[in-house]
Amino acid sequence: MIVVTGATGNVGRALVTQLAADRVPVRALTRDPTRADLPAGVEVVRFAPPTEPAATAAQFEGATALFLHVAAGGEHTAELLAAAREAGVRHVVVLSSIILDHDDAAAHPIHVMHTRLEQQVRDSGLDWTFLRPGAFSTNSLQWVPQVRAGDTIRWPFTQSVTAPVHEADIAAVAAVALRAPKEHAGAVLSLTGPTAVTAEEQIQAVGRALGRDLTVVEIPPHEVTPDMFPHISPEMLPALLESFGAAVDSEPDLTTTVEEVTGRPARTFEQWAKDHAEDFRTG
Ligand SMILES: NC(=O)c1ccc[n+]([C@@H]2O[C@H](COP(=O)([O-])OP(=O)(O)OC[C@H]3O[C@@H](n4cnc5c(N)ncnc54)[C@H](OP(=O)(O)O)[C@@H]3O)[C@@H](O)[C@H]2O)c1
Repeated sequence: MIVVTGATGNVGRALVTQLAADRVPVRALTRDPTRADLPAGVEVVRFAPPTEPAATAAQFEGATALFLHVAAGGEHTAELLAAAREAGVRHVVVLSSIILDHDDAAAHPIHVMHTRLEQQVRDSGLDWTFLRPGAFSTNSLQWVPQVRAGDTIRWPFTQSVTAPVHEADIAAVAAVALRAPKEHAGAVLSLTGPTAVTAEEQIQAVGRALGRDLTVVEIPPHEVTPDMFPHISPEMLPALLESFGAAVDSEPDLTTTVEEVTGRPARTFEQWAKDHAEDFRTG
């Protein structure tokens, strides 16, 4: 049995969907099972934080492997990992971040958060695999409100470059590591998409997927408003804009880890836009 935290999120949902399709026993933890809407074959269980010790132990019963999202443990990650180990979990695959490959970003809040997470996992006595993805392709869902409202997308740092990685590829790597723990114990896997693309090129790819011609207008950062980033907490926004600025005309590291681990090339952003075209259409 594999237990997946963050199971309704971008990566977690793709992961439990892949595992269920392969008929691997999987238990999805979510704070609200009534809203999870996960595929048949997935055991959906209410996420119990370590402040509820009996329920925490029960959610790991019969499990040997765990997929860990940073939000699940929060301040109680050490206790969560101890409960998992006590229940029989031996291997944890961690959703971390490629920012940890960059020591010069050590003060960035995302670096700080995941450094702590990885250290807690190293200290847990469990075998581990760290997944360190770069920018998710799903970040492009930030353009949904503007794309639904019209054909002009106003955006800062339109020439910022990333190598966006498809959530299904992160999930595919996680699934391999969870199913073959011995081969992947102690591995640090930095994951990117196959090519570098600018924000403007991503918006144009979304337009092609929708059969629409979108116009991209560069705006100065002071014209950015929090509603343009519905998935980012306002206090994270300055750090995010700073990283966008630093990525203008940059050459992001590209890794071939997705293909090496899964045997299939990483999906392009063009593919992601096709897979998610419905998300951009008016609901
Ligand atoms: N976006 C990027 O470009 C990027 C790049 C590298 C690394 N990362 C890292 O990847 C992770 C985000 O992954 P994701 O996009 O798959 O996640 P997500 O979609 O943002 O969220 C995953 C799930 O976590 C659960 N959750 C949220 N808050 C929680 C809490 N306080 N306690 C328990 N569960 C909680 C929610 O599920 P329920 O509501 O069902 O409980 C949510 O659906 C972060 O660690 C991020 O730093 C992101």
